[in-house]
Amino acid sequence: MTTLNDARPLPATGPINTGPIALDNHADGQLEALWAAVVPETRARGNDIHLPISLSFARRLCDAHPEADRTLVLVATLLHDTGWAHVDQEKIISDGFRGEWRTADIRYEHEREGCLVARRVLPALGYDAQFIDEVCTIIDGHDTRPNAYTLEDALMRDADRLWRFDHAGIALASGWFGQNPAMYTDRLETEIIPELITQAAVEMATADLARSRALLRTAVLR
Ligand SMILES: [Fe+2]
Ligand SMILES: [Fe+2]
Repeated sequence: MTTLNDARPLPATGPINTGPIALDNHADGQLEALWAAVVPETRARGNDIHLPISLSFARRLCDAHPEADRTLVLVATLLHDTGWAHVDQEKIISDGFRGEWRTADIRYEHEREGCLVARRVLPALGYDAQFIDEVCTIIDGHDTRPNAYTLEDALMRDADRLWRFDHAGIALASGWFGQNPAMYTDRLETEIIPELITQAAVEMATADLARSRALLRTAVLR
């Protein structure tokens, strides 16, 4: 049997929207209460930019995969990086984004802390224990585990990468890696697009990358 991780890119079963993410309807409905519960966590490491944009991409990926558990994908995406607010803030950039950043202790720590945030805020909002366990299974290892366990896990991972292709993501994250926009967008093409799991994400990333490169004049400003 082929699994999620060797059948890349996974074909979409629903519509793929490759337009600019800012044009989507971002009304969050029931998730408004969850946003309100994690306001302090959105103040760390640009989460107040990263998490909302990733959530809007997650919604699009769920449209492209109507067979996925939409609530699980959206809740896991909204919460996945809240743990950055509960680690040593001085080490986020120095350890989490430089050198051997993919395997830095602080990466594992932000995943564990993110699960603690989920377990703290979700029960009062009416989510049951099994759902919360599923959210934590996705959050735990979202950066450090090589493979996605489920379709919902895969969609969260792709949403986590797609925000980088929008010009807001480039503006914020290029600085974390100490790169200019031209170097950074080159890396998005060579390193990040191959990591995407779904065809929908590949198409959204490719369209956004072309728009962002044109907007930021990366052909000349390099
Ligand atoms: Fe993360
Ligand atoms: Fe993230």
